[in-house]
Amino acid sequence: MTSVGISTDVALASKTLLEGGVIGLPTETVYGLAAVALNEDAVHRVFDTKGRPRSHPLIVHLAPSMDYREWGVFNDLAASLADALWPGPLTLLVPRTSLVPDWVTGGRDTVALRVPNHPIAQDLLTRVNTGVVAPSANKFGRVSPTTAQHVLDDLGENVDLILQGGICQVGVESTIVECTDVFQILRPGQISSDAIKLHTGVAPDEPSGVSRAPGMLSSHYAPNAQVIIADTRTQADSIASSRGSTAKTRVLHFDDVNTYAERLYDELRTADRDGCDVVIAIRAPSSGVGEAVNDRLEKAAANR
Ligand code: TXA
Ligand code: MG
Repeated sequence: MTSVGISTDVALASKTLLEGGVIGLPTETVYGLAAVALNEDAVHRVFDTKGRPRSHPLIVHLAPSMDYREWGVFNDLAASLADALWPGPLTLLVPRTSLVPDWVTGGRDTVALRVPNHPIAQDLLTRVNTGVVAPSANKFGRVSPTTAQHVLDDLGENVDLILQGGICQVGVESTIVECTDVFQILRPGQISSDAIKLHTGVAPDEPSGVSRAPGMLSSHYAPNAQVIIADTRTQADSIASSRGSTAKTRVLHFDDVNTYAERLYDELRTADRDGCDVVIAIRAPSSGVGEAVNDRLEKAAANR
């Protein structure tokens, strides 16, 4: 297939997926690299295009009209969360059904499922009418894409089409909640621990120890520039001045946590494009999506 680049043609995107193609898919969190979950060759192409090990399982995306119980086994906690928060930036990790192939889960007996809240993603998934895998559409370990242009910059001609869906409004990846015999947040996102407790009456465990989601390496989401985290503006300024005038340094901060999340990955990419050596990121307030922003900053700052 010859890449058509960025397109607004949802019918063409749907046809491309159903013919075994791989496309850039807009969602409210970040852009995904999408393929039909039941097509083994297409899913392998997703791994290869990202440079991601095939043992790292993928999220299956479903349209709101589809029956998610065909894909996963939902206990009461999972069902409450799906009822209350789907469509939305929430991924539920549940036991898989026999429909879900090993090539999606890396042979695990659980599957990650999500119903995105983005009109173009929903239109596409409704047309395709089967599960679609979509890891973030970046090279493995790098910064996730929040615009169609980011996907083009990273993966270019290696995808058959990139569906134009504008700027991702949330800007960081979905909250992942495991709902098995364990009830735990595996990755923080816009949907907070408080929201999860509100809808289930149960407080989930916070991520701790070795991640139960493979691929969530401590160093991840990394630009080429070194990322240093500061607690305050004063601390950021003193770090900047201690680095002297030769280093190309940029300070990153937004007062509003939602803006911080929406802008974060684009700012890291812009810093690289501008040839910055160092990005000094001021920690976000830990309310709302701020916790997810700080999680991504810590991973971007971890030694590579
Ligand atoms: O917001 C998002 O979730 C985006 C958009 C495109 O939907 N997708 C995304 O996918 O962030 P990805 O592949 O970059 O991150 C998914 C994470 C990975 O760390 C993976 O290991 C974990 O989910 N995961 C998926 N299936 C799993 C499973 N069966 N068991 C444990 N972890 C799983
Ligand atoms: Mg990712």
